[in-house]
Amino acid sequence: MKRTIVIGLLGTQLDSRHPQDRWSKWRPSVGLCQQEDLLVARFDLLHEPQFKALAESVSSDMQTASPETEVRLIEVDFNKDPWDFESVYSALHDYAKKQSFDPDSEDYLIHITTGSHVGQICLFLLTESGHLPGRLIQTFPPRRNNDGPEGNYGIIDLDLSKYDRLAARFEEEQRETAAFLKSGIETSNDTFNRMIDDIEQVALHSRAPVLLMGPTGAGKSQLARRIYELKKSRGQLSGNFVEVNCATLRGDSAMSALFGHVKGSFTGATTDRPGLLKAAHNGLLFLDEIGELGADEQAMLLRALEEKRFLPLGADKDAKSDFQFICGTNRDLRQSVTKGDFRADLLARINLWSFRLPGLRERPEDIAPNVRYELEKLAREFGQQVRFNKEAEEAFLRFATSHEARWSGNFRDLNAALVRMATLSRGRRINMEVFEQERSRLLEDWRGDADNQSTQASVDLLEKVLGKKHLSHIDRFDQVQLSVVVETCRKSKNLSEAGRYLFDISGEKRRTRNDADRLRKYLARFGLTWEKCLGENAV
Ligand SMILES: Nc1ncnc2c1ncn2[C@@H]1O[C@H](COP(=O)(O)OP(=O)(O)O)[C@@H](O)[C@H]1O
Ligand SMILES: [Mg+2]
Repeated sequence: MKRTIVIGLLGTQLDSRHPQDRWSKWRPSVGLCQQEDLLVARFDLLHEPQFKALAESVSSDMQTASPETEVRLIEVDFNKDPWDFESVYSALHDYAKKQSFDPDSEDYLIHITTGSHVGQICLFLLTESGHLPGRLIQTFPPRRNNDGPEGNYGIIDLDLSKYDRLAARFEEEQRETAAFLKSGIETSNDTFNRMIDDIEQVALHSRAPVLLMGPTGAGKSQLARRIYELKKSRGQLSGNFVEVNCATLRGDSAMSALFGHVKGSFTGATTDRPGLLKAAHNGLLFLDEIGELGADEQAMLLRALEEKRFLPLGADKDAKSDFQFICGTNRDLRQSVTKGDFRADLLARINLWSFRLPGLRERPEDIAPNVRYELEKLAREFGQQVRFNKEAEEAFLRFATSHEARWSGNFRDLNAALVRMATLSRGRRINMEVFEQERSRLLEDWRGDADNQSTQASVDLLEKVLGKKHLSHIDRFDQVQLSVVVETCRKSKNLSEAGRYLFDISGEKRRTRNDADRLRKYLARFGLTWEKCLGENAV
């Protein structure tokens, strides 16, 4: 059994009664020592210096009521003003700091009762913040005639998770906010749902930057706006949602768009421009595609995040803006750091909370609820129900969750497909014919994607070994061939092995065969050598 320790303020009115009434009227501190079911091992009775005599007499009555209770009289100095919050809080804070609490063997009850509000508020705050590591004990006067003068008490644990009904209420609230973040779509993908729960916690309890990663169309921008709306509804910010896609910011105007400029700082700057960071003051700035941001802008942004100040173009003193920050990217920023395109310190600053939104193909179970959601949205837009017929619905969902469906634009693709099908079958149900047509169209779109992707990969490789400038002098026709040759070299042990593979047919037909030499000559036409093909850095 832990020892019960009560900490409470002497009540200068209620604890002090006329000597004749002492044992017939309710006195909060004494009453606590008269409770049959509460044995107080020690009572820290806090009082102001000028009430020393009263404290002593109350203490002696407490001891009479409960001989087993040790009463410690402790002076707290409120500067003679028990209504001054700052004085009272400081004095009680000092008391709390000086104590060495031992919650393993002692149970602390902080006494709250009728009396000056300020004292009660300070005791509550110190308990709530853990400076006083205990529960509250509230006492109140006898309520019925036959109640004794000791009055009543109740213990209040400020750990809200201990109350079943409150816990149920919080759970409900959490479900509601999670549903809000998901735009009310009933998703069942575990990874996604868990991520949303985490984002909810971060959105409600942190002001730190959040990084949303994930492929295009996965819903980063939409989620950023939802986070803003959630924060706003909880009074965590009052300003605006300011959104900009960094890919649209180029050159000199990028600096000015973000950080503003002063009149006359460059030709064309005819007025002051506050810039987007300023516009986000007290609100939330969402920088999409942050990986596209230039080096100067990255440096300035880092400072704005750390110091809440930045220098507008042409200005001689800093501007200030205090905003919360979310950014989005579909790039691997760590790789960008390695390549020298992104500042490591900025990445460290923005990815305290980073979340990767899965693409649609990673959430096949969520396609059906998203289709329902989107069709309802379209119905509102069209002013008319939009539905599949049964056969087409099954076929669409089968296709949508098959390996054939790449969904490379994720929700953008899914939503576009539904808009097209709904439009084409306006007033009628979406049938097999419309679905088949849509299916071909999507497959066609995605075929282009796959080709583009591999072309881009070849261009990247050639840039790496040749350098951008050199590459720009080579015909696309030759680039295609060259990229296969370079790729083969990088996969082979030596020039001969690569040559054998590349000249497989014609090599066989020759009388004397020197594939390595043929390959060397081919590479030399582009200023390349075996070593350069293997090298990471452009020459
Ligand atoms: N969970 C979702 N369900 C349905 N549509 C969504 C969802 N999330 C986003 N969208 C829609 O998909 C499109 C792309 O979303 P967006 O947030 O712009 O993606 P990102 O910023 O990742 O490219 C938008 O039209 C958006 O309204
Ligand atoms: Mg976006």
